[in-house]
Amino acid sequence: MPSPFGLRRRLKALFGIASAPVAAAPPPPKVSLTVVGPDGVEQSTDASVGATVLSASSRLRRPIASGCSESTCGTCRVEVLEGAGNLGEQTARERATLKENGYSPEWRLSCRAELVKDAVKVRAFELI
Ligand code: FES
Repeated sequence: MPSPFGLRRRLKALFGIASAPVAAAPPPPKVSLTVVGPDGVEQSTDASVGATVLSASSRLRRPIASGCSESTCGTCRVEVLEGAGNLGEQTARERATLKENGYSPEWRLSCRAELVKDAVKVRAFELI
């Protein structure tokens, strides 16, 4: 004896009524990161929104160098060349580390700077 669901499916097939297609979840939004190394060589990659510049750069052949990954050493500093508005806000800790090391307050710590939209291009001072 067919189940009620099996009966419904048979009736839909008999009258040519198709089930509504299940919509696929949209892919997560992506952002683009370009890193210019100290030698001027550019490398680019895509990353998920919310990834840090440092974690996104790990997909590159030569990633950005890092030390603490806690925004205290300044090893991962970068100069933003394009798309500064496409990064998350600086944290107080990030501003303090830049100041303590005598770096430009416009620079970012790639271990803290989050990619929030579109495209960002940075100059890295140290690569692995
Ligand atoms: S790795 Fe040390 S500040 Fe980013």
